[in-house]
Amino acid sequence: MSHKVTATILLTAASLGEQVQDPALDMIVGIVLPPDSTPASDEYIVNFVVPVSYGWTGISMGGQMSNSLLFTMWPYNGEIMLGSRWTNDYVLPLPYAGPKITLLPASKINNTYINAIFRCQNCTVWEGGSLGSGDLDGTAVLAYVASTDVGVDDPSDIDSSFQEHNNFDFFGLDLSQAHSSSYSKYIGGGSTTSAPSGPSSTRVPPSTTTSAPQATQTAYGQCGGTGYSGPTVCASGFACIAVAPPYYSQCQPSK
Ligand code: HEM
Ligand SMILES: *[C@@H]1O[C@H](CO)[C@@H](O)[C@H](O)[C@H]1NC(C)=O
Ligand SMILES: *[C@@H]1O[C@H](CO)[C@@H](O)[C@H](O)[C@H]1NC(C)=O
Repeated sequence: MSHKVTATILLTAASLGEQVQDPALDMIVGIVLPPDSTPASDEYIVNFVVPVSYGWTGISMGGQMSNSLLFTMWPYNGEIMLGSRWTNDYVLPLPYAGPKITLLPASKINNTYINAIFRCQNCTVWEGGSLGSGDLDGTAVLAYVASTDVGVDDPSDIDSSFQEHNNFDFFGLDLSQAHSSSYSKYIGGGSTTSAPSGPSSTRVPPSTTTSAPQATQTAYGQCGGTGYSGPTVCASGFACIAVAPPYYSQCQPSK
């Protein structure tokens, strides 16, 4: 079941245009569109918050698996692995070139959640479909999926193969409420670093906010892997190495 919530989170202090929260799966999907324009913009911002312990998660921008723009996401070594995929069958969706994904600087990954905020350009129309069936002020049916227990085959590879999700659910979004006059501010994000990325993948380093320090894992302790929910940051001088991906990562001396 999906539940619409009105809570305002993320994207700095502003309220998100439209979002849904799934309390059972503990996932949030939100979307912000630029103001209406002629011709219509082909981009939007997606906010995707999921437990970092899940093997992989995804969003279908068309609400079904086939003929939709799909996003896949999983953590790797404290980074967010985010890609676009497409398929026309119930088989492993393959990397999809065309959409340009940029993780915005407000994205974060910590010991419990991935909080991805990404801009997707050339993303309102795709092979076989379009957002809101072409009406950017209508109701769009989207879906999210999760593989809560099983990770992808090679988490370091954005194009990795993986097995079927064990959860999916649909939700409707009123796109007329998702347009924001602050859109250009969001994509600016206050970042001065340019982060050109490939057409189908992008990464973000771990958050470096100066709030409460994260718990760190000690030398040779576990710092990642399927089902692991402890500290993912290693003590100084040690790095989190995926020694047996996707099952086990360990704090080993930095080179
Ligand atoms: C190896 C990879 C995958 C396999 C084998 C697979 C297989 C399947 C199967 C068999 C169903 C039908 C389940 C049912 O009706 O009970 C389904 C549904 C669905 N899948 Fe996947 N899937 C895969 C990856 C993905 C990914 C990456 C996404 C999105 C990011 C996705 C999105 C969906 C959605 C939204 C549905 C429900 C709507 C529909 O049936 O079209 N799937 N998948
Ligand atoms: C936009 O994406 C489509 C696939 O959905 C692709 O065929 C097209 O080349 C892309 N356009 C640009 C300018 O990248
Ligand atoms: C982890 O990130 C989530 C989502 O951004 C946030 O709500 C939570 O407070 C963070 N937890 C810690 C320990 O920083």
